[in-house]
Amino acid sequence: MARPPRPTLSRPSAAHPRRLPKHAVLRAGAAFFLATLVALPLAVLHRAALSRHSLEHSWGWDALPSFATHEEDDAQGEDLDSEDLKLDRVLQKASMGDNTVILTTLNAAWASPGSVIDLFIDSFRSGVRTSSLLNHLIIIAFDSDAYRQCVNIHHHCFVLGTEGVDFSEEKRFLTSGYLEMMWKRLDFLRLVLEKGYSFIFSDADIMWFRNPFPHFYPNGDLQIACDHYVGNATDLRSIANGGFNYVKSNERTIEFYSFWYSSRLRYPGYHDQDVFNAIKHDPYVEDIGLEIKFLSTAYFGGFCEPGRDLNKVCTMHANCCIGLRSKIHDLRIMMEDWKSYLSLPPSLKRLTTLSWRVPQNCSLSSQNQ
Ligand SMILES: *[C@@H]1O[C@H](CO)[C@@H](O)[C@H](O)[C@H]1NC(C)=O
Ligand SMILES: *[C@@H]1O[C@H](CO)[C@@H](O)[C@H](O)[C@H]1NC(C)=O
Repeated sequence: MARPPRPTLSRPSAAHPRRLPKHAVLRAGAAFFLATLVALPLAVLHRAALSRHSLEHSWGWDALPSFATHEEDDAQGEDLDSEDLKLDRVLQKASMGDNTVILTTLNAAWASPGSVIDLFIDSFRSGVRTSSLLNHLIIIAFDSDAYRQCVNIHHHCFVLGTEGVDFSEEKRFLTSGYLEMMWKRLDFLRLVLEKGYSFIFSDADIMWFRNPFPHFYPNGDLQIACDHYVGNATDLRSIANGGFNYVKSNERTIEFYSFWYSSRLRYPGYHDQDVFNAIKHDPYVEDIGLEIKFLSTAYFGGFCEPGRDLNKVCTMHANCCIGLRSKIHDLRIMMEDWKSYLSLPPSLKRLTTLSWRVPQNCSLSSQNQ
């Protein structure tokens, strides 16, 4: 699959696979430079785009296949039962009392038995106070295979229209298909916010070991995990990772998600996460009044920067890992480590020497595997 020509802002440096802080600082610097350069035209562009936004149906609901939701049986053949209503229904069913849902996305490559989605669900079942959260998880399928697999293993499934784009294969990092999928996801998340639902979005390659809610900030519109955390929740120098975030539905977050989505036009070839790391500095974000909180990697870590203390860890992301085989390999070892930790008596659990055996096959240098 051809890689689209793109600038080098976000490419992991294969030459220095382990020197993440330096890499992260460079990325932050580059993102800041870019942001400063384009901040003004961006804000103008966004305002122009906004006036069009409500008229467009960027999701192409009409083009959706007919197996769209779980409750298909009672809705067979009813044209009136639009995809939009199906989305409303699944959101309502999965919602917590305060209109919060947990969302993940899935394509066929991650859906096969024994693949990423099984590990994801397994992590909820074996985590501490996480199994009941499965009642609030909606799996958003990108294709019909993923949808069928979802229905086999979970009770809140929804399929997104893809307008002829095939999202079923494994998407290599930063190919055009991969980027398309990421931006579709972002546009979908904006729609969820507009419907009045707050969400935790989690990539399926994030293992949930503890309930994250006690570790969120009471204030903060958008709370986001990091590839690199600088030690202060409001310091914009932390490098966000778009794979895990908690977003409250309000006018500021809806405005920000529209701004973020429209910003893709200024950064062709970039991932939504890189664009986030550029626009977080944009004065327009301050104008909106959006409060961003970066989540500590001690609780919400990943292979880029692991949460080392198993007594604290909430989630662990198989980030900084390219290639599905490597990812599954290391996720399995991570689950084994977690289960052996859980089986220890309390006195041994407290030992600070306990940590992960991963990353092994996952590392930045494995990106071309
Ligand atoms: C955290 O960072 C913000 C912004 O850089 C700064 O204003 C604040 O004083 C910092 N807080 C602490 C406790 O260092
Ligand atoms: C993981 O790495 C080991 C050692 O380098 C190698 O033998 C094995 O094939 C790799 N496994 C995967 C799934 O990439």
